[in-house]
Amino acid sequence: MTSAFDAFAAALPKAELHLHIEGTLEPELMFELARRNSAKLRFSSVEAIKAAYDFDGLQSFLDIYYEGAGVLRAERDFHDLAWAYFTRVAPMNLKHAEIFFDPQTHTSRSVPYEAVISGLTQACRRAEKELGITSKLILCFLRHLDEDAALKTLAEALPFGGIAGVGLDSSEKDRPPSLFKKVFAKARAAGLRCVAHAGEEGPPAYIVEALDLLKVERVDHGVRCLEDPELVKRLAAERTALTVCPLSNHKLRVFDSLADHNLRDLLAAGVLASVHSDDPAYFGGYVDANYRDTARALGLTKAELRTLARNSFLSSWLSGPEKDRHLAAIDVIAS
Ligand code: ADE
Ligand code: ZN
Repeated sequence: MTSAFDAFAAALPKAELHLHIEGTLEPELMFELARRNSAKLRFSSVEAIKAAYDFDGLQSFLDIYYEGAGVLRAERDFHDLAWAYFTRVAPMNLKHAEIFFDPQTHTSRSVPYEAVISGLTQACRRAEKELGITSKLILCFLRHLDEDAALKTLAEALPFGGIAGVGLDSSEKDRPPSLFKKVFAKARAAGLRCVAHAGEEGPPAYIVEALDLLKVERVDHGVRCLEDPELVKRLAAERTALTVCPLSNHKLRVFDSLADHNLRDLLAAGVLASVHSDDPAYFGGYVDANYRDTARALGLTKAELRTLARNSFLSSWLSGPEKDRHLAAIDVIAS
């Protein structure tokens, strides 16, 4: 049964700022695409896939996530993946999404970059027209690969346009942001905005590097910042957004339980934190579940939930009347 509290959480307009489109690949669609593309899967059923989603950290997840993405081959597959995401989140009052994609995961398998960007762009346009959801695309460099590979990817992507910014994802341990300074400088020079995953499994020093060397505007995850009080003060003073993903952090054992998550401490410290879903098909919930389950586990108040929804738009790359309209809509949701 839905409680009045859950209904309030559901009714809040929300922006999704930390979502890997490859992480929305539900097992059912994975099978469908494997069949369509005559791709082999080592799993024989949806249940068998779901049973494998038991992770002991980021790397064990990434291994299976890259394997799943192997069924994505053609432009239509990327459209269908993103369209499935948009139709799923529209009833959750998701109004705007800034979506990561990992081109190197696909170009390394000889999928043309053009197929990836065209399929995703078509779904984004359709979502705006048919569902009223606005969106932007963020190209992520895989940090387990080297900077030359990232530079090559950026050079390949720029002529196609269609991206609002770049990000940095994949295995964080021993792969500091400083390794990607040059490619981020090139992206900035090309007019792209910058974000990076940092402080998920990596130390607070990686967050500092992302800010100082990559000049990111938002930090994805960033939850380990609380280990460095000076950094927390800086993040709060500079109003740097943290895109926090509670269900992901729990599934990947960044926190032992959802009740141990530090989201409330981040808010109390004045950090511009908001709640997102990372790889919802793998972590057991989309934006609605991230709000609802986190609120329950941490005992968040309606006022805190409203702040989180507001923060999601304040941290987004929307501007002007469009942003104001969403903020005003949050304010009028009755407590
Ligand atoms: N790619 C997809 N999900 C990720 C995560 N949580 N951290 C780093 N890279 C990712
Ligand atoms: Zn992520």
